[in-house]
Amino acid sequence: MTDPLSAALSALLSRHHALSDGQVADYIPELAGADPSDFGISMVSVHGRIYNAGDAEKPFTIQSVSKPFVYALALSELGLARVARHVGFEPSGEPFNAVSLEPETGRPANPLINAGAIVTTSLIAGDADAGFTRIREALSAFAGRALSLDEDVYRSEASTGDRNRALAYLTSSQGVLARPANEATDIYFRQCALEVTATDLAVMGATLANAGINPVTKRRVIGEDVARIVLSVMSTCGMYDHSGEWMVRVGLPAKSGVGGGITAVLPGEFGIGVYSPPLDLQGNSVRGMAALQDTSTRLGLHVFAPATEARTAIAASTMAGNTLSLWLRGELDFIAAEQIARHIHDQVAAFPIGLIALDLTNVTAVRPIAAELLAATGTDMTSRGVRIEPTDPSGFLGTRPGVVRPPPSAG
Ligand code: DON
Repeated sequence: MTDPLSAALSALLSRHHALSDGQVADYIPELAGADPSDFGISMVSVHGRIYNAGDAEKPFTIQSVSKPFVYALALSELGLARVARHVGFEPSGEPFNAVSLEPETGRPANPLINAGAIVTTSLIAGDADAGFTRIREALSAFAGRALSLDEDVYRSEASTGDRNRALAYLTSSQGVLARPANEATDIYFRQCALEVTATDLAVMGATLANAGINPVTKRRVIGEDVARIVLSVMSTCGMYDHSGEWMVRVGLPAKSGVGGGITAVLPGEFGIGVYSPPLDLQGNSVRGMAALQDTSTRLGLHVFAPATEARTAIAASTMAGNTLSLWLRGELDFIAAEQIARHIHDQVAAFPIGLIALDLTNVTAVRPIAAELLAATGTDMTSRGVRIEPTDPSGFLGTRPGVVRPPPSAG
């Protein structure tokens, strides 16, 4: 039996199958053989559920979709400050293969155009083979399975990729390339020729959505900060000179590749992978973009269109005598703590409350800023003669409401 979301994804593919615009990439000769009718989509939740439709398991080369993930590896190895000496994080508004460097710094504007991607690849430690092995292992960890190299596509690009070699020499002349130009492009061509499926792209995106933990393997691949930086750069630069229109119409950080793949991410929720080889003039999959725009609109996924009814950390609130009882749930972050503090203040202003029973049994985590705000609320309530009695089996708060102690370390 097909689950409802996979069925909805199949219907979505049917709606866009007839779209025949675009051309399969042929500037890398081996890509010209792709079947233009291939069309697949996969959605993977941060809980690790996989929903597939169409050719979601058909392999193709990752091409530029590799770029944000190699950027993540470089950031993990070197940190943002060191990486930023070599490559920036501003949108360039130019095509993916533009001969483009920032005039003041000599750096490529961002790691998602080819010039910036080649520089990023050059930063990965080790000789050419070791560097590529690190990249392959990192991308495999994002995908949750060992990715293999399409030797034919690699050789095809290596024998025709003079424009990329020119970009490498140009960045080398500016002192921002971290290894010899021919070595950097050789690793970059291999990175682009790693074979993936739409499902792989969805799992990779879901790993970014899940703050760096692969939701299928449960392995931490990158830190939370790195995931945040990579998603920020994807949202401003991922679709090259189409990035602004993409954010307006689709509203999901994304990265495309000339193999026909696109990864899109709804932070905190889903990774989506699509595959359809015909490309528009910007090098983005035509049907892939249409499918993602449709998915975002129908499922209401635009990152800047959150639910108008804000999620609540207060599962229930009751008043009996002079006791206010609050049952809290989920992860308490700044937004949750502000809701709780506001609710407590409103209730105390409106009713003669002597005791607040705060139940944290269903709380899963307390961010430091939330702990700080709740402690300040506790201190304020104490000064007003209101007692707070927490039920806190995980020990997120101290016994005194004004005192917060860190949660016990997770097992
Ligand atoms: O460097 C190139 O031209 C290819 N290996 C990758 C370019 C690419 O995928 C552009 N994205 N849509």
